[in-house]
Amino acid sequence: MDERKITIHTLRAMKQRGEKIAALTAYDFFTTKIMDEVGVQLILVGDSLGMAVLGYENTLPVTMDEMIHHTRAVARAKPNALLVGDMPFMTYSTVRQALENAGRFIRAGAEAVKIEGGEPVIEQVRGVIGAGIPVLGHIGLLPQSILETGGYKIQGRTAESAERLMRDAKLLEEAGVFAIVIECTVADVARTITAALRVPTIGIGAGAGCDGQVLVSNDMLGQFTWFTPKHVKRYANLAEEMRQAFAAYKREVEAGQFPGKEQSF
Ligand code: KIV
Repeated sequence: MDERKITIHTLRAMKQRGEKIAALTAYDFFTTKIMDEVGVQLILVGDSLGMAVLGYENTLPVTMDEMIHHTRAVARAKPNALLVGDMPFMTYSTVRQALENAGRFIRAGAEAVKIEGGEPVIEQVRGVIGAGIPVLGHIGLLPQSILETGGYKIQGRTAESAERLMRDAKLLEEAGVFAIVIECTVADVARTITAALRVPTIGIGAGAGCDGQVLVSNDMLGQFTWFTPKHVKRYANLAEEMRQAFAAYKREVEAGQFPGKEQSF
């Protein structure tokens, strides 16, 4: 195996050495190529695909077929980063269903799957890991549960919520997950959970105390500008650059300036 290839063991070793893990979401071949060139350690084909790319209002309508289509595109870039596929809503309701769908991700080129939730899905997590497929846990705000929880709410604000998160994190670690995403959770709570685990935590809106960070790439690139969550830092303003490029092209076509001699045969 290429020694630059990141595996679940690399991530565990990074936590032991106190090194931070940089993770991002990707949904297509060319973005993955660029991302991998800079050496991010984990690439997640997130079900954020629904909002970031497909124009859905939330992640609930995302299907396995859509996830597999985009996972294949990302996998074609053959990233050194660990490639994780995100199990969409209602695709791991039973152990049998979880196994079937996790298998589809692996056949599409993913090297692990992410499953949202703690105690309620622990049998599914155990089953998938038992079949030899690494699982990335996900606790805190669970976007697939917004109908039940009543929306996107910061977690860990009460002692009860903080205790439940710690319990879920410990259960997931015991079940054998290789890392846990902690989403939109009070920073001190995420830091305490991180200190209590041997496996790395990867935060999104969970403060600087996690072992790593993940962002939705379209958010951090400033591509998805209609709504920017508080936890997102914009590292680029691609939407504006695209707007300017499209407008310049339209102007030049209308004015007869494009194509010029250089673009003609
Ligand atoms: O779907 C996604 O992009 C995610 C990340 C926000 C962790 O689950």
